[in-house]
Amino acid sequence: MTTAPMPDFPAGFRWGVSTAAYQIEGAATADGRGPSIWDTFAHSPGRIADGSTGDVACDHYHRYAEDVALLAGLGVSAYRFSIAWPRVQPTGAGAANPAGLDFYDRLVDELLGHGVDPVATLFHWDLPQALEDTGGWLNRDTAHRFAEYADLVAARLGDRVKLWITLNEPFIHMSLGHGMGVHAPGRMLLFDAFPVAHHQLLGHGLAVSALRARSTSPVAIANNYSPVRLAGDTDADRAAGAAYDALHNRLLTDPLLGLGYPEEPGLDPGVVRDGDLDVIAAPLDVLGVNYYNPTGIRAAEEGSPLPFEIVPLGGYPRTAFDWPVVPDGLRELLVGLRDRYGDALPPIQVTESGCAYDDTQDADGRVADPERIAYLDGHLRAVRAAIDEGVDVTGYFVWSLLDNWEWAEGFTKRFGLVHVDYATQRRTPKSSYAWLRDVIRG
Ligand code: BGC
Ligand code: BGC
Repeated sequence: MTTAPMPDFPAGFRWGVSTAAYQIEGAATADGRGPSIWDTFAHSPGRIADGSTGDVACDHYHRYAEDVALLAGLGVSAYRFSIAWPRVQPTGAGAANPAGLDFYDRLVDELLGHGVDPVATLFHWDLPQALEDTGGWLNRDTAHRFAEYADLVAARLGDRVKLWITLNEPFIHMSLGHGMGVHAPGRMLLFDAFPVAHHQLLGHGLAVSALRARSTSPVAIANNYSPVRLAGDTDADRAAGAAYDALHNRLLTDPLLGLGYPEEPGLDPGVVRDGDLDVIAAPLDVLGVNYYNPTGIRAAEEGSPLPFEIVPLGGYPRTAFDWPVVPDGLRELLVGLRDRYGDALPPIQVTESGCAYDDTQDADGRVADPERIAYLDGHLRAVRAAIDEGVDVTGYFVWSLLDNWEWAEGFTKRFGLVHVDYATQRRTPKSSYAWLRDVIRG
């Protein structure tokens, strides 16, 4: 970490933090909420590292006012949260459950009352289980169900949400949830998971229309990106790198920005119907970019089911997730998106950036997390460097406000600016919280 003062960011730059419903809300059966695929998955033996579930999580459903006060104290101008589809439509279809929408109504008003812009993600992986039972995102019909759900949410909140995000990381939901089986719903289809990408994108495009019919606020999608670092320099390594790049970085973004699907071995978009690509390419106001780390790639062994092999990247500090800390990868990614897409690229907001460390309270109850401060410092400087290179980046959201339920890792990974003692639900701002507050003030 450099000791040089943090450079200024452009006027109007959006400072925020992000969370997701299943990771923080708890209250899994409150007020008519139906089960999602993550309830089912977390309650299946052996799926979650510590055997925990999101049944209670951070109990944010009951403690949202305290959490909004923490946001206000941090001084962020925006809060990105997600709406649990099974609260709004417990079976994924039909009329809205008013009690479910009431919660988000209260949250949005609490945020606005504290001068914080509500940024709402419609789908952060918690598909209603009833839709999974009819094929989930493998079933084209789910795209239409998603647009109906978007309409119900926008009818209630469309006058107050300041930025809509349709989907969170459709690539990760496809690959970890349906390709590799380590996230819900736990399918292991490898490349046969492709329809999950297409149907999510179709749902996105249909939802964009539904949102625009009810709300004048801008619309975005949040994609996860990972720059490729080759671990070898043969032609086969380079081909493997290109295949991985097409899958992780281009599969979703090329069609969203009107270029159609990349043509790469293993991807046979046989599920794409006439007209779908036009729906998917509905104009976006903002591209949400989630970045954690680059990926090391080399050529796959003969007979591998995948056209690349993922290898650990040496030579960098690592987080508690064992992810390499590579701030310049964010600059490279932002500049790379601009170079690849040019005028087709809308303004970018970094919708997630953050790190897990084993943060503990000292004898006085304080939590010092100098590694997180260094991480955020480096990544903010990388954003500033990309802006200096002419990339239009208009916001940065830290993942996450609170330590929370980290999917297959359960409670074992702490990403928060605020420490949570899960036994008491006591929130303790870490030293990174005070550091970020000062950066935002400056
Ligand atoms: C599936 C397609 C999929 C392709 C990916 C095929 O077996 O039927 O839906 O896109 O595999 O390689
Ligand atoms: C997800 C978050 C998750 C974070 C850290 C992102 O891929 O959107 O829900 O907690 O990564 O793993």
